[in-house]
Amino acid sequence: MKRKKPLVVSVVGARPQFIKLAPLARKMSRRLGHVIVHTGQHYDRMMSDVFFRQLNIPKPDYNLGVGSGSHGWMTGRIMTRLEKLLAEMCPDFVLVYGDTNSTLAGALTAAKLHLPVGHVEAGLRSYRPDMPEEINRRLADHVSQLLFCPTVQSVKNLNSEGVRKGIVRSGDLMYELIAVGKERIARNTRILKMHRLAPKEFLTMTMHRAENVDTEENLDKIAGILFSLDYPVIFPVHPRTQKNLRRCGLLAHLKNSPDIILTEPVSYLDNLSLIYHARAVLTDSGGVQKESVFLGTPCLTLRDETEWVETLARGNHLVGLSSRKILSVLKALRPPARQASYLVKGRAPSEIIVSSLTDYLRRQ
Ligand code: UD1
Ligand code: UDP
Repeated sequence: MKRKKPLVVSVVGARPQFIKLAPLARKMSRRLGHVIVHTGQHYDRMMSDVFFRQLNIPKPDYNLGVGSGSHGWMTGRIMTRLEKLLAEMCPDFVLVYGDTNSTLAGALTAAKLHLPVGHVEAGLRSYRPDMPEEINRRLADHVSQLLFCPTVQSVKNLNSEGVRKGIVRSGDLMYELIAVGKERIARNTRILKMHRLAPKEFLTMTMHRAENVDTEENLDKIAGILFSLDYPVIFPVHPRTQKNLRRCGLLAHLKNSPDIILTEPVSYLDNLSLIYHARAVLTDSGGVQKESVFLGTPCLTLRDETEWVETLARGNHLVGLSSRKILSVLKALRPPARQASYLVKGRAPSEIIVSSLTDYLRRQ
């Protein structure tokens, strides 16, 4: 039986994917049949449910409940469960987001079932082959029929790999969300009050990259950085980081410092309010680098490279894990350069993505 509307499946599983899904899910359901499959890669309330509730994302139609494990185990488990589901549903299109194991598993499973795939945030590269995300995003790009690129550089990266067909420059979904919610973000001082933080008199930090937080040597450096800062710092701790800090005996040590506020992961709105009101942001997160720049707060990226190269001219600084560099950037903080638009011809990224998808499906 022919469906009234083409059916699109979104495969998501990790915190940043729920956030990217939010503006799309709203538009998608008006024009297309849309099913949300949550892989279960992230499952803690503050890593998953909180985003669905706060961003009004429809509840996932399916949860594959994979949980945590090694890369191969997790990817394989998602693929096995998703394959069965997709084979039953026979959707017209599968959308994957970002660069996590859920992205790779979703893209590969769909491609092997000969279902067309679209990759949201295609074309980003760190050119670091040891980063799990680099493997995931490269492979997802190369099995996708539609590649939704957030930036000019991401288009160039794909072109340089010989990919020319199916590229859509969409602009940045995370910018779209912020553009809509900026006033609310600025007004929300709940989390500042809760931790007695004065606007522009504190720093905020997030850290979770495997290459930063999986070794004791690097965790020692991160702790050293936290102790060296001249301002109070709030640090919502990602579960990977928490587990590793505890294993190395650093968690209790950090908790004992009056100027270091460790919290569990915070909601989207609270995190953006922290970024907006902070003097500067310290992070290794892709999303947080962009959000700092979008909100005009200086960002110190504790990595040696970034996929978001455009941010480097707009208040983002690569500082690695060097206390010396961090302190020198913090001392010389200047207001970030004038903001560029992160939209393509002023159009909402979600609108560009849904329209391209609808056109593609009409042509099939
Ligand atoms: C994953 C992505 C990373 C993304 C990040 C967003 C991969 C390879 N990595 O990293 O690209 O930037 O999500 O946050 O896909 N854990 C919990 N509760 C949870 C989820 C995880 O306790 O709800 C703990 C588990 O001990 C787990 C560890 O965190 O082993 C790491 O989780 P995992 O999903 O493997 O990778 P992330 O570090 O979250
Ligand atoms: N984020 C959040 N609460 C937190 C930390 C981060 O809501 O405690 C949001 C952040 O504002 C951004 C997204 O999570 O929208 C980034 O996700 P993450 O850093 O986990 O992954 P990455 O972007 O590096 O893939």
